[in-house]
Amino acid sequence: MSQPVKLMGMVDPHVHLRDMEWAHKATFASETAAALAGGYWAVFDMPNTPPNTFTRAALDQKLATFQAGAVCDWGVYFGASRQGNWAEYPQVMADTCGLKMYNNPTTGNLFITDPSIREQHYQAWHGVIAVHAEEDVIPTVLELVRKYRRWTHFCHISSAAEMAYLIEAKREGLPISIGVTPHHLYLSQDDLPQLGSRGLMKPELKTPADCRALWQAVSDGWVDVIESDHAPHTLTEKMSDRPPYGVPGLETTLPLMGLALHEGRISLVQVVALLTTGSQRIFKITPPPDTYTLVDFDDSYIIESQNLRTACGWSPFEDWRVYGRVLEVWIRGQKVFDGERVLVSNGFGQRVICG
Ligand code: DOR
Ligand code: ZN
Repeated sequence: MSQPVKLMGMVDPHVHLRDMEWAHKATFASETAAALAGGYWAVFDMPNTPPNTFTRAALDQKLATFQAGAVCDWGVYFGASRQGNWAEYPQVMADTCGLKMYNNPTTGNLFITDPSIREQHYQAWHGVIAVHAEEDVIPTVLELVRKYRRWTHFCHISSAAEMAYLIEAKREGLPISIGVTPHHLYLSQDDLPQLGSRGLMKPELKTPADCRALWQAVSDGWVDVIESDHAPHTLTEKMSDRPPYGVPGLETTLPLMGLALHEGRISLVQVVALLTTGSQRIFKITPPPDTYTLVDFDDSYIIESQNLRTACGWSPFEDWRVYGRVLEVWIRGQKVFDGERVLVSNGFGQRVICG
């Protein structure tokens, strides 16, 4: 019998849980249940689901909907708008985990191209800024980090070139962190013929050489967080003529890191940092007492869509053999997941206060 590992306060700082105007895709109740099944204590939700979290009113609607539905703890990002919504910042900062700024196209058409608008967002926001910045946009964002010294989390880094920019910036001592998704590590363009539209997301899948560079950066300790970028869309939408970008990942991230452990790509100490303490340090959060996940990393199983809790009911990792079964999740001294069932009602989850 193998010994379960105790992970203290697993956080996914990058999810898109839908609900509200996109409740047909998924809800805070369904996806926070998926988060518990994936071992998580807390998830931080992105602002691009309609109504976009760009205004105090939209933020209030999201906070209330989360409070009513969530079974795990949660945080929400405010979104930097293209028109410039920095006048809102002083009134919203305390209720959020950070600002999200899109600098490349993605679901929702929210991206900002005007350098002066980007700069004004940087000037005005005093907490963590999470950025979607791909390839040659990265150096332009690094200029802003250099100038304003805001802690900047670079989301879903997906290529060797991007990683090289950021390793250089870390060597320079800039206040940045790096997130990488399991799909950019384990999947490449070569998988697209088999995956079809289930392999479409932003940033897009890259080459096997890019995957190798990402793994190298993870194993060398440059990467701070493995984030799922959980972005459920219905299978009907994904199979349509114009499939939306995005893949689910809340229930596959931990066992894929278990697979990486099993394959000898990373150590258990690294798995712990990438899934718990990395995010805790970036967002200055402390898990509540008695908040942990028990995982058996020796137990392996096959990912099957019928066993997933996410409302979208599919995964790009279907049929993969993974390692790491979530045995129990505890939050604030209460057992909330027993390996099969969610044991708390909607609304149990609380907002995480970020430092
Ligand atoms: O593929 C993606 N889907 N990338 C994003 O950045 C957004 C997400 C979504 O919301 O569907
Ligand atoms: Zn995202």
